[in-house]
Amino acid sequence: SDGLTVLGLETSCDETAASVVRLSAAGAEVLSSVIHSQIDEHAAFGGVVPEIAARSHVEMIDGVARRAMAEAGIDYAALDGVAATAGPGLVGGVMVGLSYGKAVALARGLPLIAVNHLEGHAVSARLGAETRYPFLLLLVSGGHCQLLEVRGIGDMSRLGTTIDDAAGEAFDKIAKAMGLGYPGGPALERLAAQSRENGGDGSRFELPRALLGRKDCDFSFSGLKTAASRLAQTCESEQDRADLADAVQKAIARQLSERTERAMLAYAEQHEALHFVVAGGVAANKTIRRTLEDLATKHGFGFLAPPMVYCTDNAAMIALAGAERLEKGLTSDIDVAARPRWPL
Ligand code: KG4
Ligand code: ZN
Repeated sequence: SDGLTVLGLETSCDETAASVVRLSAAGAEVLSSVIHSQIDEHAAFGGVVPEIAARSHVEMIDGVARRAMAEAGIDYAALDGVAATAGPGLVGGVMVGLSYGKAVALARGLPLIAVNHLEGHAVSARLGAETRYPFLLLLVSGGHCQLLEVRGIGDMSRLGTTIDDAAGEAFDKIAKAMGLGYPGGPALERLAAQSRENGGDGSRFELPRALLGRKDCDFSFSGLKTAASRLAQTCESEQDRADLADAVQKAIARQLSERTERAMLAYAEQHEALHFVVAGGVAANKTIRRTLEDLATKHGFGFLAPPMVYCTDNAAMIALAGAERLEKGLTSDIDVAARPRWPL
């Protein structure tokens, strides 16, 4: 048949996910995308517990993968390859999806494609709309905060990264200090919206701005985290807390926007076609999306963000990255190892 059809598997954090994607001249088509979230299993602990995550992946992976195949309505014989996240992430979980992928590849005689989770996020905008290479990418998730020049699959260079916490990690830790549930990003976004609905204003809270003396594209959120956690102790009313959430969200949006602006100026000196993509779980935040979209418009960049469902962890992005790799002949040996750390 036309194009390449790939089964993707994702188990690097707290989502067990499987998806079938077909990549053809017409673009990427998601035939199925099944996500089993473990959030309920980890919520009581205020964060992801690696041991619980790995066990849950073991229990779920077979059912999730079979459902993805059934919903796609195709037989294993119609697959051209199997892609699995091989890192970075919680290695116990990564091994579950990768081992399962190896088993399917061996049993069905299919090529295996080990995918870097970050590369999955990097191509995720291509699931929603045609996105041509090259583009400038802001990847903002729970584990990562990077600006990248993406020239193609397996061909990216980093313009900036965080020197401490990732943006999503900052959301999660500050939310935890404010007594909000896990995951913290969506909870903090809802609380911030409450502030605006009640005519509140976060600007009465003074939060530090990071790395003011530097001219590069690096990020830092640890000072903000410390200051916001301290201010959380001083909040007396629900309105105080909502206003603080608003201030935190604005501070994170501002830092992301300032560093992205620097990267845009540098990128524009070297490229004719200007496209900007924001991806990763934090790209689900509406205030941050809007801020970045305005910035892109100001600097003449086309703006693209994946559909909300493909911002947070999913397997469709892994299947697509796998298909793009397969197209280039970039397959993996069957003994490829899971990698807890794997910089792009
Ligand atoms: O990409 P992702 O699902 O997992 C990683 O690879 O890390 O991102 C999860 C992160 C969490 O830190 C979560 O709090 C954050 O994305 N996040 C948000 C929102 N939705 C998810 N942060 C801010 N606002 C949101 N609406
Ligand atoms: Zn992720």
